[in-house]
Amino acid sequence: MKKDLLKLIDLTEEDFGLFFDRALELKRRYKKGIIDRPMIGKTMGMIFDKPSTRTRISFEAGFAQLGGTPIFLNTSDTQMGRSEPIKDTARVMSRYLDAIVIRTFSQALIEEFAKEASIPVVNALSDDYHPCQILSDLLTVIECKGGYKGLKIAWVGDGNNVAHSWINATAVLGLDLVLACPEGYFPNKTILDRALSTGKGSIKIVTDPKDAVKDADVIYTDVWASMGMEKEQEKRLKAFDGYLVDKKLVDLAKKDAIVMHCLPAHRGEEISDEVMEGPNSVLWDQAENKMHMHKAIMDVLINR
Ligand code: CP
Ligand code: NVA
Repeated sequence: MKKDLLKLIDLTEEDFGLFFDRALELKRRYKKGIIDRPMIGKTMGMIFDKPSTRTRISFEAGFAQLGGTPIFLNTSDTQMGRSEPIKDTARVMSRYLDAIVIRTFSQALIEEFAKEASIPVVNALSDDYHPCQILSDLLTVIECKGGYKGLKIAWVGDGNNVAHSWINATAVLGLDLVLACPEGYFPNKTILDRALSTGKGSIKIVTDPKDAVKDADVIYTDVWASMGMEKEQEKRLKAFDGYLVDKKLVDLAKKDAIVMHCLPAHRGEEISDEVMEGPNSVLWDQAENKMHMHKAIMDVLINR
């Protein structure tokens, strides 16, 4: 049966392990200059309804490095832009492609696409989740900390799509996650309750960033207004006052804590310049690992 990557709560811990192992192996070989071509003759479609620098380029470059051909599709250039039904599009694209990567607003659209497609479908960000991001971020955590068990992960900011994927990963892997979010910007209750119902890991929500980062091993933040919420920027600037990840906040965490951000960042808003450039920041390795993880995701879903 074909396998999709739609949200992390659908995965088992073994699935995560497959992605981590393959990404580490592909990265090690790539760094040594070894050329791997498991995607020769394979084609990957990419439907992106929201902007992207990292996810788009790392999927495209990564797939090309593996010998495959990525095809970037602007929705407005396809018949999807003229309202061809998702199910028709999914069935037709399945006859041409070996996998499809989708970044869009609605999680339901990606799930409907996956239901109708006979090829693997990968969620490259929706309003609700960003599963590929957290898979590659955990790869960075594994590299920096030797694993993820027993670490305290502190989320500071909006209870958004990236936070939801951390919540899902916590429920599958048994992580220790504390989220500091202002009132009114907590994670979605349905997503949270589903994760809590697994009984795995620990998920706490606090409103004081200091409580979240105290003794943390990983500090993670993201923009306060995600794509599609730009109109709320002013309102959110006020609501998130006090949520800046600056040196004073980072100093409350463990001395060797790592600071992560999925990027793009608004320097000086949710994270200070000093922290981004400081000794705890792993932002550029984190961004690089997206490519190694995306290669692994494609290889696992298409070739196994
Ligand atoms: N982190 C991330 O998904 O970045 P892009 O929006 O640039 O793809
Ligand atoms: N939460 C952000 C993540 C960007 C990679 C957004 O959805 O815009």
